[in-house]
Amino acid sequence: MPTWALHVDADLDEVNRHWAALDAAGMLAAAEVDDTAIIYFARRPDDPPLDGRLEHIADRDWHERWRDGLTPIRAGRWTVTPSWLATGGTDELLIDPGQAFGTGHHETTVGCLEALDALSLRGRTVLDVGTGTGVLAIAAARAGAVATAVDVDPLATTAASDNARRNRVSIAVVTGTLDRVAGRTFDVVVANLDSAMLIAAAGGLARVVAPDGVLVASGVSNPRSDEVAGALTAVGLSVEVSTGHEWSLLRARRTDG
Ligand SMILES: C[S@@+](CC[C@H](N)C(=O)[O-])C[C@H]1O[C@@H](n2cnc3c(N)ncnc32)[C@H](O)[C@@H]1O
Repeated sequence: MPTWALHVDADLDEVNRHWAALDAAGMLAAAEVDDTAIIYFARRPDDPPLDGRLEHIADRDWHERWRDGLTPIRAGRWTVTPSWLATGGTDELLIDPGQAFGTGHHETTVGCLEALDALSLRGRTVLDVGTGTGVLAIAAARAGAVATAVDVDPLATTAASDNARRNRVSIAVVTGTLDRVAGRTFDVVVANLDSAMLIAAAGGLARVVAPDGVLVASGVSNPRSDEVAGALTAVGLSVEVSTGHEWSLLRARRTDG
């Protein structure tokens, strides 16, 4: 449970630019409140990459405070909206993150939502590897896809199922790794993981992409994009890299398709 909050005179874009270092310092969540970013940590951060006021907080307070700071965020055609702020807009993707990753505020999630938005998904099969809150699978389902969501973390798969219900879509939710869907293929595979995991899972990811399908891979810090692209190329994918502020998004297709 986090016990520390760092109050920084910055917006969430600035926080996103330092996400990898904050993550290494034990960050669990971040929110913007009244032009101040509040970053929550599981432990006292030794050398955080952003200067600010460090506050020790009671365990029971942090999650409530973090939720209070969440705001809707625009990504592609969607406004990813904390479920308690729903207004009934048809563009709202309602997410209660619980303890899962995927409020929509991270650059990698926004990138994946935009990449999904650029694809024609109606009637296509979509696999979301590392679904977190389910935000990507739910966006795909809302766009007419038949979506399957996989996550190793049972707290994430519970959140993803609950969020699917909130959005009145049905998605197949699987607790486990990519192995749980081995032998199947999908028109679109989206994997917002991290560089090491993408490299380790490259072969498995390539095998679940349908011959004329596409893999959208994210969670890759810019300096590691060549390395991840190399691993995906080595397993028979042709890869296109889009470089963002701090994170790269990779689109890959099978070359034997
Ligand atoms: C960065 S979050 C992405 C959440 C969401 N898809 C998004 O884009 O905001 C990565 C998720 O991958 C999950 N994960 C980590 N290793 C995994 C693995 N080997 N197989 C499946 N899921 C994994 C984590 O539990 C976490 O929920």
